[in-house]
Amino acid sequence: MNNALKNIDSKIYNLIKKEEERQHNHIELIASENIVDTAVMEAVGSALTNKYAEGYSGKRYYGGCEIIDMIETEAIERAKKLFNCKFANVQPHSGSNANAAAYMALLKSNAKIMAMSLSEGGHLTHGSPVNFSGQLYKIISYGVSKDTGLIDYNEVQKLARRHKPNLIVAGATAYSRIIDFKKFREIADEVGAYLMVDMAHFAGLVAADIYPTPLEYADIVTSTTHKTLRGPRGGLLLAQDEKIAQNMNKAVFPGLQGGPLMHIIAGKAVAFKLAMTQQFKNYQKQIVKNAQALAQALADLNFTIITGGTDTHLFLVDLTNKKITGKQFEQALDLAGITVNKNTIPFDKQSPFVTSGIRIGTPAITTRGMKDQDMQIIAELISAVADNIDNIRKLRILKQKTIKFLKQFPIKAF
Ligand SMILES: Cc1ncc(COP(=O)(O)O)c(C=O)c1O
Repeated sequence: MNNALKNIDSKIYNLIKKEEERQHNHIELIASENIVDTAVMEAVGSALTNKYAEGYSGKRYYGGCEIIDMIETEAIERAKKLFNCKFANVQPHSGSNANAAAYMALLKSNAKIMAMSLSEGGHLTHGSPVNFSGQLYKIISYGVSKDTGLIDYNEVQKLARRHKPNLIVAGATAYSRIIDFKKFREIADEVGAYLMVDMAHFAGLVAADIYPTPLEYADIVTSTTHKTLRGPRGGLLLAQDEKIAQNMNKAVFPGLQGGPLMHIIAGKAVAFKLAMTQQFKNYQKQIVKNAQALAQALADLNFTIITGGTDTHLFLVDLTNKKITGKQFEQALDLAGITVNKNTIPFDKQSPFVTSGIRIGTPAITTRGMKDQDMQIIAELISAVADNIDNIRKLRILKQKTIKFLKQFPIKAF
């Protein structure tokens, strides 16, 4: 960062410095967060932030877009190559906007959407009553089996047959196992529904070929670019069919958004380029290895892992046997320098503000260079926090241990 911000606005400058320090001194286990490359940060902080470019390449509502057109076209071409698909839209400002655009592209208002319930792993935009999706569409929610914590495909099929949804959504915020897209496609075909896959969480794994691609099966794939994919905060839409792609583009602009965030789109292009490297593939493999090692180390310390493990970058911990809530544990872990989010577990008896679980993810710590053997140390720190949940003095001592441990893994981007 140069000195302009420091000189003009020392308050915001100092708060940014404090946030940088917080990121350096915490073990970041929020599954949806990551640490982007300096190259992505440079693109996002560039002169492109100044440019208005409503419309699409070659068809803009503003002059001076000839360079912008090249940047957006490059981002689209890279997204198509990375995910092996025919059409991409890189303009959605966020994952939620991408989902809204997908619904608008495929459905009439009041149509029926079948998606995973928020309490069992879905996202707000998958039909929560407090979200536009739950207010503008008729929602049928599916969940996971009580015995296994896995999606019950028979139940999904039964619900689909009974309710005949116009769209089925596969994809989740807190589901640690591989989703069977082929099965979802069969169910959608049987009832004449579109299939949308929201790969916001596992897009990086798909890009690295260690999670099955949904592009073979889905009518539209939506994503964020900032989770495992390690790009700037934003959304992405992918499709294989030209007519659907045209509707998808119209839904983003002029349907839902005005001017695209060209600095973010340049950042997405950089992230897509990085995602095509062998280094990125190795990184994604290590994310999953770390998640599996951490889940196992916690299980060995008497933590209950939902579904018994993970195939991905994240897993859920059921705290019921520890007699603590997700809210309490999130707060105590924070005091010890470990950042997680409280999360409902399937069939949770606690409210979403309290919860019986936490969600743990490994994308950010893997970016910092941590490997399987480091997961044992993190598991022991987490367990020590659970054993000293009300002991502020002990939690402070644990924070010093955390900071010392993190010194081996400097964040290179800032
Ligand atoms: C599965 C899924 N879809 C969509 C989103 C929304 O992304 P955003 O926060 O960028 O709106 C998220 C975010 O957590 C998510 O997990």
